[in-house]
Amino acid sequence: MRLDYLTIFPGYLDALRESLPGKAVDKGLIEVHVHDLRRWTHDRHRTVDDSPFGGGAGMVMRPEPFGEAFDELEVDASTTVVVPTPSGTPLTQELARSLAQRSRLVFCCGRYEGIDQRVLDHAATRAEVVEVSLGDYVLNGGEVAALAVTEAVVRLLPGFMGNAASLVEESHEDGLLEHPVYTRPASWRGLDVPPVLLSGDHARIAAWRRTQAEERTAARRPDLLRPASLGAAGEWHPER
Ligand code: ADE
Repeated sequence: MRLDYLTIFPGYLDALRESLPGKAVDKGLIEVHVHDLRRWTHDRHRTVDDSPFGGGAGMVMRPEPFGEAFDELEVDASTTVVVPTPSGTPLTQELARSLAQRSRLVFCCGRYEGIDQRVLDHAATRAEVVEVSLGDYVLNGGEVAALAVTEAVVRLLPGFMGNAASLVEESHEDGLLEHPVYTRPASWRGLDVPPVLLSGDHARIAAWRRTQAEERTAARRPDLLRPASLGAAGEWHPER
């Protein structure tokens, strides 16, 4: 997979060289290209923003640098343009899985009040465009969100994770939050690991984990247990 980032703060994306994404680059699973958007400006001040038509506070990112970047980077139908924005579709495991199928992602990181809408409308004439939100809060720009989307996507690429089973077992893969986990020592500062986990009885352990996951989800994220997920007899269908 090829990943491109258009940003006025390329240093934010240095984190992509760390940890697993860095290893994925070394393994040849992903190719990372971070671009300073100001490269596609032509004035002395390398301007990327201007005041909004219609008035209002803040600045809007001008369309031309993005447009020229799309031309030079040959953004086409094989590309998904990802635009992090608090007005986007919420990032979910399902969306991450879908983005992981693509051969190329181009992230457009906005700052200020956002990116001129024509950047997205124009990109949509030549590529798939996905606006993605990390959640209902406002960050100062799209870079941190682009990192989060990248990490959620790249770890799903075949060959990325050493242990594929840990992908299946984790939070959100089955529609529930993950059960609590424990390791050695079995007793620590007066706190004991739940005895069932030491029993060696795999069926009982699986049932305990399932109950814990359901209780946790009900307490913390009842929205994930929406009625549509329940069958007529109240049985659980997370895929519905
Ligand atoms: N840019 C600013 N806030 C954001 C958010 N919540 N999600 C994605 N991108 C953003």
